[in-house]
Amino acid sequence: MLKSSNSSSSSLYSLDNKSSDEKIEYLLKQQHEVKQQPRIIVPPPPELPESFSSFLTKTINPGCKDPKSIRFKTFLHNTLLDTLKKRGWKETNDDTEWDVYWADIHWIHENFDHVYLHDNQRINHYRNHYELTRKDLLVKNVKRMIKTVEKEYGKAEASKFDFISTSFVLPQDYALFQEEFRKNPGSIWIMKPVGRAQGKGIFLINKISQINQWKKDPRLTRSSSENQDQVETYIIQRYIDNPYLIGGKKFDIRIYALVLSYSPLTVYIHRNGFCRFSNSNFTMDTKDISNLYIHATNVAIQKTSPNYNVGKGCKWLLYNLRNYLYSKHGQDMVDTLMTNIETLIVRSLMSVQKIMINDKHCFELYGFDILIDQNFKPWLLEVNASPSLTAETHWDYELKFDVINDMFDVIDVEKKVPPEKKPLLKVGGFDLVYHDGPIQHERTTNYKSYLGCYKKIPKRDKRSKKHGHHFTNISESSLQK
Ligand SMILES: Nc1ncnc2c1ncn2[C@@H]1O[C@H](COP(=O)(O)OP(=O)(O)O)[C@@H](O)[C@H]1O
Ligand SMILES: [Mg+2]
Repeated sequence: MLKSSNSSSSSLYSLDNKSSDEKIEYLLKQQHEVKQQPRIIVPPPPELPESFSSFLTKTINPGCKDPKSIRFKTFLHNTLLDTLKKRGWKETNDDTEWDVYWADIHWIHENFDHVYLHDNQRINHYRNHYELTRKDLLVKNVKRMIKTVEKEYGKAEASKFDFISTSFVLPQDYALFQEEFRKNPGSIWIMKPVGRAQGKGIFLINKISQINQWKKDPRLTRSSSENQDQVETYIIQRYIDNPYLIGGKKFDIRIYALVLSYSPLTVYIHRNGFCRFSNSNFTMDTKDISNLYIHATNVAIQKTSPNYNVGKGCKWLLYNLRNYLYSKHGQDMVDTLMTNIETLIVRSLMSVQKIMINDKHCFELYGFDILIDQNFKPWLLEVNASPSLTAETHWDYELKFDVINDMFDVIDVEKKVPPEKKPLLKVGGFDLVYHDGPIQHERTTNYKSYLGCYKKIPKRDKRSKKHGHHFTNISESSLQK
């Protein structure tokens, strides 16, 4: 049941005398306020049978390690560093003597095959993570999965994997794309370089000639970091032209999924996540298709928009989105949408499960970028291997701190949880959603998915004051591809 947290004039329900656009503008203003709490709340779902904290108060594993004995190495000095220090772990720069290494993906590519790891060492990427996180390989793997499922289980089952908008890899699939474009003249496509992030190199087209121009432009066809003769690989993807809008603005959603193992596939999804809004009203007017302030919701792009409000940012918590959708469309719709997002995430992981090199030393925190259209269909835009863990604002800091801390509770380097109790169903904001098969939670509410059901971010407390220097601006180094 939806209820107002207070009866002051700021509640959504006391805006009855306003037009619906005014209400939405008002709500957006309120919820963009970084320091302000959302004004409507959905009652939080009850705890699942065994939560990590309740488990720990009941059980102490005799083999449990002293946190001070745990050594970590990290190339990131942001929220991650604060979180690990807060756990009592010790930072090291030693090349081999560490328990946890938060490594840069370039280190993985260059060194992983040449190092020997002890049983207790844990590292934050799988060797060939790029099968999921490079845009062209993701498309290839999901297309292959669709074919396999269709062969074995039929078209209906295969259609469940239809969550990536029609895509082709350029330059190699150029002829196929041309054929598809001819069937839908005037359709709008988005070009995305496969090896870049933060909206860099993205542009929209509605005429083949616009790609021909791109093909001829030496600055765009050559990657700056690579061999100057190599043509940069792009994917061209059908542009989703009917995004669900709030207050006339487009947004996409970032969700964190933690893979503990690919064999058996073991996936946790965090209840908390956020939406990134554009600062300009959405339009499909062809004269505006080159305006990325309208079409790309990356914070790195929106931050440079003249409409960007530095103090307020351009994000909502997933909690706010869940509440907003609940108030507009009701519980069933929200529940179905959130469950569909969860299954989309699991299915994309299933698409790479067979080719991913499983390794007991590896875990990976992925950042899923998801767009919802006006029919409430979630689309997968991309998966990030190194989602930004640098916080921009106080609540962004709290969100990231919790995700990282909960992740290390799941990984349990301290060995607080005896092996026979693993995997726990709920650890902090992480819910186990798949472990060699979908997890059927014992749900005492009507909620099918807990995505977005996460406690409100508390007022800035000691921990962020103490480590306040780690929420500044998004730095280049924090966003790795
Ligand atoms: N197929 C698409 N349809 C509509 N918008 C898209 C599509 N693909 C990407 N976008 C927009 O562009 C942004 C960047 O795309 P993304 O695939 O996440 O690449 P990047 O690595 O640059 O973040 C997304 O956040 C979204 O706003
Ligand atoms: Mg992205």
